[in-house]
Amino acid sequence: MSDNKLQSVLSSLSQVYRQLNCLPSSPTPDASCVKLNTNENPFALPAAVMQSAVAALERQYLYPEDDNISLREAAAASYSLSTDQVIAGNGSSEVLSLIYKAFLDPGDSVAMMSPGFAYNRKLALLQGAQLLEIGWGDSGSLPIKELLFGPAKEAKFILLANPNNPTGTFVPIADIESLVARSDRLIVLDEAYVDFAPDSALRLVNRYSNLLVLRTFSKSYAVAGIRVGFGYGHPEVVGRLRNIQNLFNMNVIGHAVGVSVLAHRAAYNENHRHIKYERARVSFALSQLGFSVTPSHANFLLARVPAGRDGTWWQACLERKRILVAVIPEKGLEDCIRVSIGTTPQMDAFLAAVEDILGADTSQRSAV
Ligand SMILES: Cc1ncc(COP(=O)(O)O)c(C=O)c1O
Repeated sequence: MSDNKLQSVLSSLSQVYRQLNCLPSSPTPDASCVKLNTNENPFALPAAVMQSAVAALERQYLYPEDDNISLREAAAASYSLSTDQVIAGNGSSEVLSLIYKAFLDPGDSVAMMSPGFAYNRKLALLQGAQLLEIGWGDSGSLPIKELLFGPAKEAKFILLANPNNPTGTFVPIADIESLVARSDRLIVLDEAYVDFAPDSALRLVNRYSNLLVLRTFSKSYAVAGIRVGFGYGHPEVVGRLRNIQNLFNMNVIGHAVGVSVLAHRAAYNENHRHIKYERARVSFALSQLGFSVTPSHANFLLARVPAGRDGTWWQACLERKRILVAVIPEKGLEDCIRVSIGTTPQMDAFLAAVEDILGADTSQRSAV
């Protein structure tokens, strides 16, 4: 049956958004699975942080603070920056989306190191912009000359994550500084996984007005569901982004938890030590089982599966055993799975499932 009203409504969509299909609803996720597919941090909150969340619920009838002021003040003080150098977001992905909105007109280009955080593809599409995907150099190094003199030279901004998702590789801060110092483009440095890495570039923010550093509390501070993220940069850039932010973009719980996490960062040291320890343990165990694991500086591992099967096959087998891992639908990574690092029992369950699957597959193949 033709629905003329609907056709008329849909034809009013903007030219850019008309290219996007209607989003289907996915089934309810199975909460009983071991979830190792989106790099959360599955540990309980420090008691003080939890108390601040509960106390914030008593202010549920009030709108949250305008412009996230206390949270921005606390974040600025924690990193010896000024409040106008900080934007607070409903997750760092909100700040990322503001950058796309603020800097891109339809037809503009943006450069991203690839493989990289796939959400950037959607953000570029939503702006009608062209995403230039620039490959990493040997062992995940930064191709500085290519970024300075190749097609990325014309991009409105250059985006890279350090450590990178989905590889977990880390580039030295000196290389990032070399790019930022020599480029006149805005460099957006996504440090979502920095707490599992040896160094950060945040100290460069006071030196270079073309650097914007993104941080999130989703990965290392165990509050992915509460949505707390930040951008740190020059006040003139940060102020432009704050200006286009949704009214009351965060809620009172996010504000309270964000401030409390900043006050209790040391309470997470053991959590971060655990993740690095498990990362090494699982990496070694997987390599003993025939996987080839990229050395990781994040809270996940990218593992190339043993020959004969691909990442999607492994993902499906693991899911039947109620373990969720990610596959990366990118050229060259079809044979990989990405596994978040969780608690010891979660990682033991994952490794036991891998051993079972390998054992069953070997006997099935030798029977043929
Ligand atoms: C590189 C990178 N940046 C940003 C995000 C999103 O972080 P948030 O939860 O703060 O929106 C992710 C989440 O997977 C990520 O991998």
